[in-house]
Amino acid sequence: MAAASGGGEAISAEGLTRRFGDKVALAGVDLRVPAGSVLGLLGPNGAGKTTTVRILTTLLRPDGGRARVAGYDVVGEPSAVRARIGLSGQYAAVDERLTARENLYLVARLYGMGRRTARAHTAGLLERFALGEAADRPSGGFSGGMRRRLDLAGALAARPEVVFLDEPTTGLDPRGRNDTWEAVQELVAQGTTVLLTTQYLEEADALADTISVIDHGRVIARGTAPELKAAVGGERITLTVTDPAARGRACEALAALGPHRPALDPRTGSVTVATEHGTDALRTALESLAAERVDVRDVALAPPTLDDVFLTLTGGASGASPGAGSTPGAAAPAAPAPGAGPSAAGPSAARPSGSGPSEGGRRRVFSRRRGTERARKGGAHAWRP
Ligand SMILES: Nc1ncnc2c1ncn2[C@@H]1O[C@H](COP(=O)(O)OP(=O)(O)OP(=O)(O)O)[C@@H](O)[C@H]1O
Ligand SMILES: [Mg+2]
Repeated sequence: MAAASGGGEAISAEGLTRRFGDKVALAGVDLRVPAGSVLGLLGPNGAGKTTTVRILTTLLRPDGGRARVAGYDVVGEPSAVRARIGLSGQYAAVDERLTARENLYLVARLYGMGRRTARAHTAGLLERFALGEAADRPSGGFSGGMRRRLDLAGALAARPEVVFLDEPTTGLDPRGRNDTWEAVQELVAQGTTVLLTTQYLEEADALADTISVIDHGRVIARGTAPELKAAVGGERITLTVTDPAARGRACEALAALGPHRPALDPRTGSVTVATEHGTDALRTALESLAAERVDVRDVALAPPTLDDVFLTLTGGASGASPGAGSTPGAAAPAAPAPGAGPSAAGPSAARPSGSGPSEGGRRRVFSRRRGTERARKGGAHAWRP
C-alpha cells in the first residue's frame, strides 16, 4: 500500500471552503483521518457532507483551504488521488448497459488489475453484496437497493487505499445494510481507510473510529461515540404521556423542576428531559407528574444516545439544556486530532434539524424518522414553555 503521508494520515483537510453562488456550503472544514481508520461524517441535510466528499475525491475544487488524500494534494495532484481512492456517491452510478459483473470487472481492469485477479475479485464482491444471482443481468433492470449495492461494490473493485462512502446504506434493506457494514469492517481489517457519511447514528456508532459532526459547513464536534456522549453529559429521563390532553401539563411540570427543558415528540407522546441527578430526579419527576394527575408509561433513565448528541449539537430538539448547541465543550475549539477527545467548535443556530434515526432497532429508526419529518413540517418539535 502506498504510504499515506502527513504522519500516517490518509486524509487531511484544512480550512476547506466552498460557495455555490451566495450559498456557503463549506465554511472551513478541518478533518484528519489516520490511515486504516474509519471517520464517520455526520450532519443534517445540507450540512456540507457531500460537498466535502466531492472535494476530497477531486470532483469539485475548493474555493479555499487544502486537502491531501493518500498523500497527494486533491487540487495539485488529482490523478494520483484518483488512482488510490474508491467512491460510492450519494446517488448510485452504474453503467446500465453492462451487467453487474461487467461493471465491476471493468473498474478493476481500468485500475490495472490482471484479468484473473479481476475476475476472482469481481466474483467475491458479487457474493459479498448479494448480487450473485443477478450478476449477469444488465444493471439497468436492477432495483434501487441492488444498484446501491453494485455501486458500493464498484467503489471497492480496484482495492483502493482510501474509500469514500456517501450515505452507503440509505435505501438498503436490513440485509443489504449488514452486508455493507461487514464489507466496511473487512476493509478496515485489511488496512483500508474509510470516510463515510451517514444519517444513521447507529451506523457511525458501529463502524466509525471517530465521528466528526458537521453543520452549516463547519465541523462542530469530533470524537469517538462514547466521548461525544460523555461530552453531552448527564442522563435522560424518557417517559410516555398517553393522554394527548395531558402532554402540555406534563411538560410544564417537568420544566418547573429545571434547569433543563423537556422535549415532546407529539406523535408518540414521548417526553425527554436531561438531568444530572439520576434516580433522585426520576423520583421527583414522577411525583410531580402524579401531583398533576398525569398518567405515564415506559419510564426510562438512560445515558444520552448518539441521537441526543446529534440533536443537541445541531440545535435540534432534544432533552438537553437550554442553549443546547453550546453544551458540550463549547469553549474548546474543535480538536485537531481525531481520538484526542471530543470537542465542539461553538454553538450552532437553533433550528429544526434533520434527525437521523435512533440507536434502537430498525423499526424504531423508521418511526423516529417519520416523527421527525412530521415535526419538521409542523415547524415545532421541542416543547417550549
Ligand atoms: N451544485 C450545487 N449548486 C448549488 N448549491 C449546492 C450545490 N451542491 C451543494 N449545494 C448546497 O450546499 C449545501 C451543502 O450541500 P451538501 O450536498 O454538501 O449537503 P449534505 O450534507 O450532503 O446534505 P444531505 O444530507 O442532504 O445529502 C446545501 O445548502 C446545498 O444546497
Ligand atoms: Mg449529501
